Amino acid sequence: MPYAIRPERDEDSGAIRRVTEAAFVQAEHSSGTEGAIVDALRAAGALSVSLVATVEGEVVGHVAFSPVTLDGVDIGWYGLGPVSVRPDLHGQGIGAALIRAGLAHLQGLGAKGCVVLGDPAYYRRFGFRQDPAIRYAGVPPEYLMALSLDGSQAAGEVAYHSGFSAT
Ligand SMILES: CC(C)(COP(=O)(O)OP(=O)(O)OC[C@H]1O[C@@H](n2cnc3c(N)ncnc32)[C@H](O)[C@@H]1OP(=O)(O)O)[C@@H](O)C(=O)NCCC(=O)NCCS
Repeated sequence: MPYAIRPERDEDSGAIRRVTEAAFVQAEHSSGTEGAIVDALRAAGALSVSLVATVEGEVVGHVAFSPVTLDGVDIGWYGLGPVSVRPDLHGQGIGAALIRAGLAHLQGLGAKGCVVLGDPAYYRRFGFRQDPAIRYAGVPPEYLMALSLDGSQAAGEVAYHSGFSAT
């Protein structure tokens, strides 16, 4: 299925919410609030990178990146997620293309690194690794992975943007 990837536009927000909610209905680990989180991040100006995948002009996938802090300090790191692909199009490389393009955009912004909370079996292919110096309370340590984008080391307890508390 040919698809294209581009930054989100104002008119995409409804479609992004629908795709996000549809994707997470089937997800193993879901808060059920991922659609609201994307809207809250956007409203707070914290959607640092927000890309959509389109098929024939229709939004079928989305990835968000927002700033995180380590030990309460903004050190130029970001968090990947939520990332969503419409369920009928899973397994065609659209999620991976969104993530790779998003990481390239982050690098273009001068980001120093990125964390992700998710299944290591999926995120290792993008270079994410568990790093004992980067912690996130409440999940098994292997699920919080980090990728340095500038070769520097980071350390501390990760906190996501307050938009992640949206319901
Ligand atoms: C995760 C998601 C965005 C991946 O999109 P996608 O377009 O299906 O992914 P791709 O086609 O790029 O990659 C497919 C590969 O990822 C694997 N994969 C997909 N989701 C996975 C997951 N949650 N855990 C482990 N592996 C996963 C598939 O088995 C497949 O593996 P293979 O390449 O070794 O065969 C999509 O499955 C989705 O929307 N899931 C629901 C929302 C979600 O869970 N988001 C991530 C939260 S951490």
